[in-house]
Amino acid sequence: MNEDTALITGAARRIGRKIAVTLADEGVNVVIHYRSSEEEAKELHDRLLELEVEAPLLQADLRKKSDLDRVIPEAAEKAGKIDYLVNNAAVFPSGDLEELEFKELVSNIRINSWAPFYLARSFLKRSDRGKIVNLLDTRVAGYDWDHAGYYFSKVLLARMTKMMALKFAPEFTVTGVAPGLITPPPGLDEEYLKERMDRVPLKKHGEEEEVARAVVYLLKSSFVTGQILYVDGGRNLLHELEG
Ligand SMILES: NC(=O)c1ccc[n+]([C@@H]2O[C@H](COP(=O)([O-])OP(=O)(O)OC[C@H]3O[C@@H](n4cnc5c(N)ncnc54)[C@H](OP(=O)(O)O)[C@@H]3O)[C@@H](O)[C@H]2O)c1
Repeated sequence: MNEDTALITGAARRIGRKIAVTLADEGVNVVIHYRSSEEEAKELHDRLLELEVEAPLLQADLRKKSDLDRVIPEAAEKAGKIDYLVNNAAVFPSGDLEELEFKELVSNIRINSWAPFYLARSFLKRSDRGKIVNLLDTRVAGYDWDHAGYYFSKVLLARMTKMMALKFAPEFTVTGVAPGLITPPPGLDEEYLKERMDRVPLKKHGEEEEVARAVVYLLKSSFVTGQILYVDGGRNLLHELEG
């Protein structure tokens, strides 16, 4: 994979950061996209240089059309070219079905589905070939009653992933990684994971590394497209039973 470059959105922290370090370990240059985590992004940049890859920084708010428009051209300019796009950035607000407002639904869709789709399409328009991985969620196999706007946005991205895989073939592969219980939401601690581990068939939570390894597998594969790889300890198998 040497000489290849990945653009990772929301790369400065948490799962995005782990994907960046894991790809860099494989010799892949990384364009570090961030919105507000500038300090963490710079720290990651220094870490990736130690791994002897290029790691340009790119700031953009994926809610803004003007920012969305410049992400792919700017990433290609900074890195020379883009081979992989990892759509990792997302929001995860709480909110149930009874109280879901149109504005909230749109705000989830804007970041969690429209931005990944728009970036994928811009990537397609500017490159001859490439691979795209969208970060989904195990919940797409079932329901999430407590994060309704988020849930709809990830289900939409899952369908977009499959449609793009068909439409963008054979030059591009488009796949999804659907993590389960990995890290607590920002602001919450390990208790969050402990309380929920019992509901996972494998009776534990996953590590960021597991998600990163799945992304690397899909980026390396030349014969997998349109697939959603669940990294969730088997939780997707329960969704149909639990509703
Ligand atoms: N964590 C889990 O256990 C879990 C479980 C299931 C699915 N997932 C999925 O896996 C992916 C990574 O999860 P995570 O928990 O590591 O994500 P996260 O910390 O909630 O968010 C990742 C990054 O998204 C960026 N972001 C948010 N709004 C943005 C905007 N308007 N413009 C640009 N960037 C924006 C933020 O960048 P800045 O910090 O720079 O502002 C943030 O650091 C997400 O797609 C998530 O839905 C995670």
